[in-house]
Amino acid sequence: MLDGRPAPATNKVWVVVLTADADFEQLARSTFGTNALIDLAVVKGGLMGEESKLEIGNAAVVVIDLDTTQPEELSALQRLMGRLGGRQPVVVVTQEFNEIVARKLVQMRVADFLVKPVTPIELVRACSRVAHEPSREQVKEAQIYTFLPAAGGVGVTTIAIQSAMTLLNSGPRGSLSICLVDLDFQHGACADYLDLEPRLVLSEIEPRPERLDRQLLEVMLSHHSTGLAVIAAPNRPAEMRTFDPNVVTRILDLVSSHFDYVVIDMPRTWFTWTDNVLIGSNKLFIVSEMTVPGLRHAKQLVTAISERLGEGQQPKVIVNRFEQRFLSPGLRRADIKQALGDAFAGTIPNNYRLVREAIDRGVPLEEVKQGNNVAVELKKLILQRADVKTVASKPETALKERSLFWAR
Ligand SMILES: Nc1ncnc2c1ncn2[C@@H]1O[C@H](COP(=O)(O)OP(=O)(O)OP(=O)(O)O)[C@@H](O)[C@H]1O
Ligand SMILES: [Mg+2]
Repeated sequence: MLDGRPAPATNKVWVVVLTADADFEQLARSTFGTNALIDLAVVKGGLMGEESKLEIGNAAVVVIDLDTTQPEELSALQRLMGRLGGRQPVVVVTQEFNEIVARKLVQMRVADFLVKPVTPIELVRACSRVAHEPSREQVKEAQIYTFLPAAGGVGVTTIAIQSAMTLLNSGPRGSLSICLVDLDFQHGACADYLDLEPRLVLSEIEPRPERLDRQLLEVMLSHHSTGLAVIAAPNRPAEMRTFDPNVVTRILDLVSSHFDYVVIDMPRTWFTWTDNVLIGSNKLFIVSEMTVPGLRHAKQLVTAISERLGEGQQPKVIVNRFEQRFLSPGLRRADIKQALGDAFAGTIPNNYRLVREAIDRGVPLEEVKQGNNVAVELKKLILQRADVKTVASKPETALKERSLFWAR
């Protein structure tokens, strides 16, 4: 594929260019092909269907000539970016360009983009600038676990909190940093359930999201005695308004570069920023109740999210308040498995007394009863789905499998 050439074993800088455009190929060859310090590999064709085969080796920069009029090309680029995981910078060259395309490219963390006609000097400048940036591999980014409800009151908040506790306890004491982010700005309950004062003041960030830096973040975090950090805003039940997506993006971007794990409690409503949050997540869980409509909603949500995000990101469904029924009528585990298929992650037992007491006292479930069945089942489910190496290893190595897509 690479012009029939193997990966070069020289000290030269290796540049990979993928293009279906003969003119751009010619430009790339005349720009880089004659430079003694550059080894150019041209791959002819479009990105769609080729992104998994593209040989990148230790290329210093990858230039992709993208047909942005084809949504499949953008999905293919997204998969390629996921595969690269931030290890190599990608410069995108496009013919058609608009605000939507620009946003998508920024979200995918493309290093730079150029619009045709491109001049040789623009191409050289873009490539040398991004190729000299420090390796993105070194940037620590959190593993993001996102929990979405299939319906109201299914237990998302309870499960998100308990998952955050599970992750916190998955390493030696004090070795992992976890931040629970309550994005249910209207009816958030994370702070209440943990008896904390919510300190995120959205009105302060909204006018200028870029003002949110490490220091301001520190002021807006609440700290639980277990070591869990929480970002939650005071509830505004009477206010049904949406926020500038940049506010959410900025919060998550900052949090993800300062913690090993981020656990997100999502609202039921789909906001303008919801897609961005889902795209940036490593693990997506939909929480459902054990009813036929509940499972149906969950399944619909799985399909809708998979369609929006592409195949790489299939959410898994957790069925909460599960009760084993042998003789009485009602749903059984086999029915749930059949309804959800591959998307079924597991069940969490119904333990009303335990959960209720934890909520009323504002403490984690483990504080009510060590080794309780809800915590045990959730631990199996969450840690089995975690990157085990990451959980067992030191925080420095808790790098994300795929690059975050949130815009910086
Ligand atoms: N495994 C469980 N067993 C018994 N009760 C549970 C369980 N999980 C949650 N609950 C109960 O269900 C109720 C709703 O829980 P929670 O607030 O976590 O749900 P939610 O999906 O976040 O709700 P909302 O839609 O209001 O945000 C609470 O009263 C809680 O006690
Ligand atoms: Mg909730």
